[in-house]
Amino acid sequence: MSFDNIRRIASRDYDLWAQLGRGRAVLDTPEKLDQYLYSYGPMTKAQWRTLLSELSLIPEPIEIIDYGCGQGLATALLFDHFGDDFIKSVQKVVLIEPSEVALRRAGAIISCYSADQFQVETINKTMDAIDAEDLLGKTGILTNHIFSNVLDIDGYDHFKLLEKIFQRKGRHCILAVSHDRSFEGGSSRFKDLETAVCDPQYSEWFTVQQTQIWQFECGNGKPAIAWVLEIEVIDGSF
Ligand SMILES: C[S@@+](CC[C@H](N)C(=O)[O-])C[C@H]1O[C@@H](n2cnc3c(N)ncnc32)[C@H](O)[C@@H]1O
Repeated sequence: MSFDNIRRIASRDYDLWAQLGRGRAVLDTPEKLDQYLYSYGPMTKAQWRTLLSELSLIPEPIEIIDYGCGQGLATALLFDHFGDDFIKSVQKVVLIEPSEVALRRAGAIISCYSADQFQVETINKTMDAIDAEDLLGKTGILTNHIFSNVLDIDGYDHFKLLEKIFQRKGRHCILAVSHDRSFEGGSSRFKDLETAVCDPQYSEWFTVQQTQIWQFECGNGKPAIAWVLEIEVIDGSF
């Protein structure tokens, strides 16, 4: 299993680009998923390749939560980049997505990577419908939160979502990447969240260990924005 194989098998131009809502629509047929892979697969790969080349993840027990995961491309790219030792350190992947057909495909793809080594959980919800309980897992292990071309979408309350994420005590790493744009949400949502988490009023709730926003041009010449945030939640009862 690899991103390139997924694209070789399923990427197809059905002339449905106009129905993808600039890539942000909740897709309802396998053909639209194939079209998404064809139209937006190269951009997704180029964005993550740039972001992941800046990071080193030491294999340690982790859980991954992929928000608005679509067909699971970002988690697949993460696995391809960091390889088998990293995959072996994963205990659980939670896939969250409002499109049933996309979520089913994401579950199947990520289960292939798992080969029964880690648990794959699928949650068919929008961001606003997520409960803090959906995000609770084992304490004491690192949780990687993946936002691939979804943090910029203005259809949900991103502050409330972060509040729910930070109900879980322990170490968290947010990895987010999107097309860099300034309309209908866009990159300001990244910057607003970073400003909020750095507000000293939250210092009894969590400690910010690292935060960085990059704006860059990825391999396909398109502008992108990425945010890496590492925090430790001290008291998850806020
Ligand atoms: C641009 S696609 C990105 C998909 C996937 N993360 C990737 O990078 O391949 C945006 C995704 O966000 C999902 N989405 C749209 N609105 C959403 C919402 N309010 N809550 C959760 N997901 C949403 C869509 O169904 C779609 O899968």
